Amino acid sequence: MKRFVKDLLQSPGAASLALFTREIWANPRAMGAACPSAPMLAGYMASRVPTDRDGLVVELGGGTGAVTAALLKYGVPPWKLVVVERSPTLAHHLRQRFPQLRIIQGDAAQLAQLLGQERSKKVGSIVSSLPLRSLHPATTRAIGHQFETLLDPGGLLIQYTYDLRGTRARLLPSFRRLSGKIVWSNLPPARVEVFERKE
Ligand SMILES: C[S@@+](CC[C@H](N)C(=O)[O-])C[C@H]1O[C@@H](n2cnc3c(N)ncnc32)[C@H](O)[C@@H]1O
Repeated sequence: MKRFVKDLLQSPGAASLALFTREIWANPRAMGAACPSAPMLAGYMASRVPTDRDGLVVELGGGTGAVTAALLKYGVPPWKLVVVERSPTLAHHLRQRFPQLRIIQGDAAQLAQLLGQERSKKVGSIVSSLPLRSLHPATTRAIGHQFETLLDPGGLLIQYTYDLRGTRARLLPSFRRLSGKIVWSNLPPARVEVFERKE
């Protein structure tokens, strides 16, 4: 616990934490978490992304940038990384924190449209912190459809969930789960899952 609190205080900085908390008050369902991911969770997510693959790495639900920072630290080149965030305030924060990245403000349910010209490039991996369980079911279905549309067979979806049993298979019918690991040091503990787009 002591380690978690220390990590938390060091991770996004006090300003990011305050911003995250304000966003929870404004839109609790869309935030779906009490605080930003701890470095252990963000680092484990990032470590699952193959850096030698062709194609973009698209991060969904950037928040205050905990996972974004880890992706850069684990070797995803800035030119390959695109971050999508629904909240205008958080998107603004991400642009200030990561001026070298393409940050798109918008709803992941319209991901293909949001990517615009970037769509001509292949998407190799999607890294999602979206709270799929707490979003409206229609939004969750639309997001699942975007995953199917944008990832070719073999493409990876890496995401975490606070449902320690893991993501329901019916939510991602076109994907096969490759791995799942619980990061107990996050608050609350979260399961990181890696899915592969089926043929
Ligand atoms: C659980 S927080 C994760 C934030 C950060 N990645 C982290 O791990 O600390 C979920 C984030 O997803 C964003 N979000 C929720 N619904 C979204 C949507 N439909 N499209 C894009 N972003 C969304 C929220 O605004 C929030 O920043």
